Amino acid sequence: MKYLVTGGAGFIGSNFVHFLLSRDSTCEVVVLDALTYAGNLENLDDLKGNPRFSFIHGDVRDREAVAGSLEGVEGVFHFAAETHVDRSILGSSEFITTNVLGTHTLLEGCRTRGIRRFLHVGTDEVYGSAEEVGFPETAVLAPSSPYSASKAAADLLALAYHKTYQLPVVVTRSSNNFGPYQFPEKMIPLFVTQAAENRPLPVYGDGMQKRDWLYVEDNCEAIWTVYEKGEIGTIYNVGTGTVLTNLALTREILRLLGKSETLIRHVEDRPGHDRCYLLDCTRLFRLGWAPRQSFSEALFGTIEWYKTHEAWWKGIKEKKASFQQYYEAQYGKRGV
Ligand SMILES: NC(=O)c1ccc[n+]([C@@H]2O[C@H](COP(=O)([O-])OP(=O)(O)OC[C@H]3O[C@@H](n4cnc5c(N)ncnc54)[C@H](O)[C@@H]3O)[C@@H](O)[C@H]2O)c1
Repeated sequence: MKYLVTGGAGFIGSNFVHFLLSRDSTCEVVVLDALTYAGNLENLDDLKGNPRFSFIHGDVRDREAVAGSLEGVEGVFHFAAETHVDRSILGSSEFITTNVLGTHTLLEGCRTRGIRRFLHVGTDEVYGSAEEVGFPETAVLAPSSPYSASKAAADLLALAYHKTYQLPVVVTRSSNNFGPYQFPEKMIPLFVTQAAENRPLPVYGDGMQKRDWLYVEDNCEAIWTVYEKGEIGTIYNVGTGTVLTNLALTREILRLLGKSETLIRHVEDRPGHDRCYLLDCTRLFRLGWAPRQSFSEALFGTIEWYKTHEAWWKGIKEKKASFQQYYEAQYGKRGV
């Protein structure tokens, strides 16, 4: 079996590539990735020379690159996207072209081929902010940011390709992931690495925004479960029910690192910031999936990973202009 993983040099994609290759000792994996600021070949370093792994440096918006990457492929996992909400507020063009047009190019490439399954990776952010009850997959979409709006458009395109062309599409919509190899602009790696260097942790607004946290390895298992057992043309929410406020999570990170809460800086809130994400994951639980790791074990393990992979994140934070310019644009004017 040969699989295509788009965006496989990013955070979840690279974790998923490792997951796929270790769960099936006969499969082949090809990664198509444009290596944007968020893509990092170091995430796949250990796979160099592995005859079951190949990498194509290409863009999901490029029809020829997509066609080449689909040679002999039976299963597609589509992760490639622009993913950072704050960046989508600073400028959204790449979000529209990659997330919407890129998904369309990939769907078109798959349409006429005998693809066994196309798994589209979506996000819970498409539902907008929740009140008390978790959103089911049938909830009305109400995205708040250019990022989530572009992801909603991509989900709908993928589902339309199933209805119109019988492309065997399944969709996952997961909550906030965390774990190894996450680009250090996202909350958990940003805060862990800032605290490690005794630098301020910028908390948006009052920090009372609630998020459901999902360990990346549990998400990889969920994606695989949906790919294998999910009903074609169906969406599956992926979440754990471990809901924390951003402030509580920040305090827990500082506690685990033995650092002072004086590092916390409340900064002006993000425009359109959703207060709460909650999911009803009954549909996925019925397929037999459940998270394997508790939140506290997974958070502890993640912090240990960043502690022992300082060169990885320092290489990004200190050497990549894409991180420094973004950090200055995002937090400089907010006084951090
Ligand atoms: N991180 C989360 O918490 C989370 C939660 C729910 C859903 N998701 C979704 O999961 C997927 C992966 O997220 P992530 O956090 O790993 O993202 P990431 O930003 O870490 O990685 C994205 C990858 O896509 C690649 N890419 C970007 N534009 C491309 C293009 N035009 N062509 C080819 N490759 C391109 C990048 O180089 C990078 O390797 C995304 O679709 C995202 O919307 C993420």
